[in-house]
Amino acid sequence: MSETRPQWGSRVGFILAAAGSAIGLGNIWKFPYITYANDGGSFVLVYLAAVILIGAPIMMAEILIGRRTGKSPVGAFLELGSEVVGGRLWSAVGGLGVLGGFVIFSYYSVVAGWTVYYFGQCAYWSLNGITPHIDADLGRQFGDFVANGPLQVTFATSFLVVTMLVVMLGVKRGIERVTRVLMPILFSLLLGMCIISVWSPGFRQAMHFLFHVGPLTSEAILEAVGHAFFTLSLGMGALITYGSYVSRRASIRRDAAVICVLDTVIALMACVVMFSVIFSVSTAERATTFSKSAAILFTTLPRLLYSLPFGALVAPVFYILVAFAALTSTVSLLEVVVSYFIDQRRWSRHRAVLVAGGMILAVSVPVALSLGANDLLTSIAPFGQRNAGLFSSLDFFASNWMLPIGGLFISLFVGWFLSVDVSRSELETGGEEFRLYPVWRFLVRYVCPLAIIWIVIAVIGGKAFN
Ligand code: TRP
Repeated sequence: MSETRPQWGSRVGFILAAAGSAIGLGNIWKFPYITYANDGGSFVLVYLAAVILIGAPIMMAEILIGRRTGKSPVGAFLELGSEVVGGRLWSAVGGLGVLGGFVIFSYYSVVAGWTVYYFGQCAYWSLNGITPHIDADLGRQFGDFVANGPLQVTFATSFLVVTMLVVMLGVKRGIERVTRVLMPILFSLLLGMCIISVWSPGFRQAMHFLFHVGPLTSEAILEAVGHAFFTLSLGMGALITYGSYVSRRASIRRDAAVICVLDTVIALMACVVMFSVIFSVSTAERATTFSKSAAILFTTLPRLLYSLPFGALVAPVFYILVAFAALTSTVSLLEVVVSYFIDQRRWSRHRAVLVAGGMILAVSVPVALSLGANDLLTSIAPFGQRNAGLFSSLDFFASNWMLPIGGLFISLFVGWFLSVDVSRSELETGGEEFRLYPVWRFLVRYVCPLAIIWIVIAVIGGKAFN
């Protein structure tokens, strides 16, 4: 390990940063809408099972690879891979991760831009008084907004630039401090909204929707597993990178457990809030007002926010907090790409951030234009009509294919190629004896790879893309 390797400032520093990476738009924007699109219930159960059986073990595997080598994904696999069958080939897993960082960032920054815009929008509504027609009009307004090319490019680019500034500062001085203050506020606010929604007329139906057991398609299972990877920031080496800055005093398994629990709780709370609003309106109105689309956070939620006491105050605060949650996630995405240039190409952090940022910008501009601004980009559908448009196609491809496949190779590597001594000692450093070690090892050796392979085969062999 090189002596200049940066480290997290404190023991909680890593938890906060990793939880900051995990908790983001995946929890508050994406999870509610894909749960709604997949009819809740069984989808949520599969997702929970995926977090426990696949997500948590792979999270531990990623962090241990990072801390063991003190390197970012490509370097880490080069080092550990050189001792086993496959050798340098393993670094391709790291390379796939770096590529994943580009792809995810390119559309993630677009949605992050929306949260900033809605902060402004809500501030405007709050100051000028929200009028009844705004309520009915939320869906149309959102549609107009995303189809506005210049606005989309401006907001996505601004978000990229802010992320670049933070990453340039180094993660410790920038993001670790911000996260420590803002995440608890976001959590409290969401909890408050959750409690209030218990009294809404739609609460019971929302809970039923979330936890009933219904039929499932193989596509839905793939999506649930894919989302477990996405929301926990797994499968592309983000936690290998963050793990490389972890001190030897930290307990990897305790930290991983905390991160998984926090992430899941926030995602479920977001669902409770969102669905309570959705089910509080009549079925007929629901069909016209709420599409089963990516728009729920921006069309459903303002309705609730402005019906609350102090709603005019809470609404803008809520969106700015979500924007910060997104920022702590984009920072981790960019950090993977940047640390590759720093470690493998020996670039300065400064140069790495500028080049990586420029490359991401080149991809995110067409993505920003693929929500109505440009016909061709809006209509391409390599993965079927359900995921039409460059924006949805990239999200689909990255979360449902790149991340699970990255996770597959990570679990195969740690389960079958890395020695027991190495994994066991990493998981026990900073903590006590790991009694569940055999369980963990069984999960990474058999359960994770077989589950992922089975899903991939089911989807390819089945009625794959509609
Ligand atoms: N986990 C984040 C979210 O839920 C997104 C994210 C950040 C991510 N870094 C990642 C996803 C790395 C996959 C890999 O919003």
